[in-house]
Amino acid sequence: MAGRLIVVSNRIPEGPNPAGGLVVALKDAITEKNGTWIGAYGEPGEATDSFDELEGTPYRRLAFRLTAEEHSNYYLGFANSVLWPLCHRRVDLVELQPEYERDYLSVNRRLAAMILRILKPDDMLWIHDYHFLPLAQELRRLGVSNRIGFFLHIPFPSHADLSVLPQPETFAGWLADYNLVGLQTGADVARCLEMYRADPRAEFLPDGSVKFGMNILSVRSFPIGIDVDSFIESASRSAPSPFGREEPAKYIIGVDRLDYSKGIPNRFRAFGRFLENGGAEKRPCLVQIAPPTRERVKAYQDITRELEEIAGSLNGQFATLDWTPIRYIHRQIEREQLATLYRRASAALVTSLADGMNLVAKEFVAAQDPEDPGVLILSKFAGAAEQLTEALLVNPYDTDDIASAIDRALEMPLDERRRRHAFCMQAVRRTDVSLWSTQFLRVLERCMPTLNLPSSMGRGRYNLSAPPADLVAE
Ligand code: ADP
Ligand code: G6P
Repeated sequence: MAGRLIVVSNRIPEGPNPAGGLVVALKDAITEKNGTWIGAYGEPGEATDSFDELEGTPYRRLAFRLTAEEHSNYYLGFANSVLWPLCHRRVDLVELQPEYERDYLSVNRRLAAMILRILKPDDMLWIHDYHFLPLAQELRRLGVSNRIGFFLHIPFPSHADLSVLPQPETFAGWLADYNLVGLQTGADVARCLEMYRADPRAEFLPDGSVKFGMNILSVRSFPIGIDVDSFIESASRSAPSPFGREEPAKYIIGVDRLDYSKGIPNRFRAFGRFLENGGAEKRPCLVQIAPPTRERVKAYQDITRELEEIAGSLNGQFATLDWTPIRYIHRQIEREQLATLYRRASAALVTSLADGMNLVAKEFVAAQDPEDPGVLILSKFAGAAEQLTEALLVNPYDTDDIASAIDRALEMPLDERRRRHAFCMQAVRRTDVSLWSTQFLRVLERCMPTLNLPSSMGRGRYNLSAPPADLVAE
């Protein structure tokens, strides 16, 4: 396909070599396809109505700025105080404010108008994550008929939770204007289809796609992964210990943004239970790296406080002059250091209460020495559990279950560790991030572009898999 690839994500990649995440996933595809990455500046200021072109990357980067009010209402508000808790099964934390939704919609509308000005007819758009659910709808309103794909990095909400939105039916309508909706897991696809099954406007076609009004939408799972080879390379370098002379003899690692969805308090409590049950004799350490995130949202302030209290109380209860059971580091660390930390750990604890995928789980697996690998303890509620079935799968709500998995991980014989690791490593390779983006784009390219009908033929757009012969795309 000759057209350019235009990627939209809330965060614009910083600098020429940003570490990890979506940027690594898409850097090659976007460079090959003469692509453009659109995203917001991190800091709010004067709103921009046209993009600033940023220098210094092999692909084009176009940035826009949010006002302070938009940053509060669209980003911290609707995106992170409504959609994020809604999708992570924490409807108790949803904060409904009319100005949140108003600015969420208006930012999407403004962005659509800005994209229209740079768009060429054969460009393909790939929109990322919950910040931009209505973007296709806004683009279609402006007459855009290009192929538009969407990938939701976080869990798809349950039908029951969606009813917390003031107008739950808008959600199905937002997604229906995409040609392809990619989700992390089979379970996410099932929830999305359940939403359409319950919606009288939707109809299922024999090939499994959803006809919604004039639109036809494909919903498929594309489990995201990591850049496996580069992670293996970083982890296998013989780097000095990131702990200096303070390296614990045996440690378990946890690495997460300090988000309530990650179940970090549950993890600390379970580690406490393990220590109480005799684990303290083994003197292992739990090294928890948890950089702050979305700090202006109250739920994040609460979890930060809660975690400090639990860590303080467990250390008070168990620490000795030469052993601190929990080392809690509340900041971002270098990617190279992270790889080394994973490699030297005896186990990793991922205890998300809900998680789209959880890349930390895959990074940990890739970082291990296959001859003497550490053990992954993984929440069954992380998307990664659909693929990493030979990790020690745990129920993060069950303190005893996690505590006994910690014990089992630290006692696991070498041949069992090797066998489980080899299985997980295959799954990590199967979902390598370059395969992920290639597969998504290949499916999107095969979707028929949406056709704009002349108004004399009635309002509407068709993205039929076989376009009516008498209709021509505008
Ligand atoms: P989420 O996208 O919800 O934050 P993931 O586990 O899928 O969760 O991805 C998190 C990414 O951020 C991983 O690539 C991980 O290595 C990185 N990361 C998380 N915490 C840190 C940290 N303290 N320092 C450096 N990188 C981190
Ligand atoms: C998750 C979301 C991303 C988001 C990231 C960091 O991975 O899926 O869209 O960028 O968290 O969150 P932040 O709010 O700091 O961008």
